Amino acid sequence: MSYSRIARPLLFALDPEWIHRQAIRTGFRLSQSSLARSVLRRIYNIQHQELRLELFGLKFENPVGLAAGFDKQGYIYRIIADIGFGHMEIGSISLLPWRGNPSPTLLRLPRDWGLINRLGLNSEGADAVKDRLSSARFAIPTGLNLVKTADPAIAGEEAIQDYLQSFVRLYPLADFITLNLSCPNTIEGRTFEDPELLAPFLKRLKDCEVQMARRSKAKPVLVKLSPDLDDNTLDRILDLARDYGLSGCVIANTTNRREELKTPGYILHNFGCGGLSGLPLKKYVQKMVRQVWIKSEGRLPIIACGGVGCDPKKHPAEDVWEYLNLGASLVQLHTGLIYRGPSISKLINNGLREILSKNKLSSLTEFFARRADNTASRAGQIPL
Ligand code: FNR
Repeated sequence: MSYSRIARPLLFALDPEWIHRQAIRTGFRLSQSSLARSVLRRIYNIQHQELRLELFGLKFENPVGLAAGFDKQGYIYRIIADIGFGHMEIGSISLLPWRGNPSPTLLRLPRDWGLINRLGLNSEGADAVKDRLSSARFAIPTGLNLVKTADPAIAGEEAIQDYLQSFVRLYPLADFITLNLSCPNTIEGRTFEDPELLAPFLKRLKDCEVQMARRSKAKPVLVKLSPDLDDNTLDRILDLARDYGLSGCVIANTTNRREELKTPGYILHNFGCGGLSGLPLKKYVQKMVRQVWIKSEGRLPIIACGGVGCDPKKHPAEDVWEYLNLGASLVQLHTGLIYRGPSISKLINNGLREILSKNKLSSLTEFFARRADNTASRAGQIPL
């Protein structure tokens, strides 16, 4: 309440990029103080048996994760665990350092509970992140989200090499790896979502993974997809995910669409291009989660990501419950943290416990078991 009444109006009066830098700085400072961390845990961190779950061999305290893009360089992972998230992704991280786009790169759309960003995959580079995380002991499952260096001149075979090298460097440190496939960052404007590029890339990645897994424990590898994929491309990607034994997918990244926004057109026009997140993204992500669940017959674990906590008319736990009913196993959020503040995970997890109890479910694990039973008869739909 105090975040939305007091902190949010103040923060939203200031430049969004500056605020984000301050949030990372403050988070990093707090992460150095064990007193501050224990206070944060006391305020924000709740642990409940009924929210625990296991997925691709990892144990999660709750289903709510922080999406990639917030802690791109791995400065505040301790604080993210302290404020009650059940998992997180650091990144996107590229092999080479990359500055990203010049300012302005972030636009808030308060009327739509959304954001548009065109940060341009700024990264300190795989070596810098590796040095920072080399002695890290993650308190929650932590994925490293990898992307090809955003230099458009790195294309073709070089692009594959670039991606593989960051994979080799960072695989041993991660609990899981997410491949951010959806950024158009080559001279041809193609992404690794193009099945013609994805197939040879996954083949090489698989060979690499086999070698890496000999040296360290085998890790789940996921793909993160764009919500703007056409059906045919999505089908082909899902086939490749199955053929190459990927562990799951994150649905989805930001959208390029701008339909039905309440923000005046001139504001959008003045800002220009960028990826849209938050509430306006949710309907596309919901549809895609359902599609993937049905197409994969519930066999490919889905992390749903889009607009969680961004509907002012709803309790944020309802967004999560909807995604779980559409076929997701975990959710992630980014924009919701900006609109609702640091208590969002606690808010969702408390709400989820109430929803489980209303539905006479003793735990999320029981929910997943019921959902799996229902898959055969009704493609997974159980009443909300
Ligand atoms: C992102 N997102 C993102 N995703 C990714 O895979 N790598 C990245 O570097 C980033 N960077 C990034 C920056 C900013 C400012 C935003 C708002 C988003 C996408 C993000 O992880 C998520 O997929 C979408 O934002 C949708 O979720 P929300 O924000 O609607 O909860």
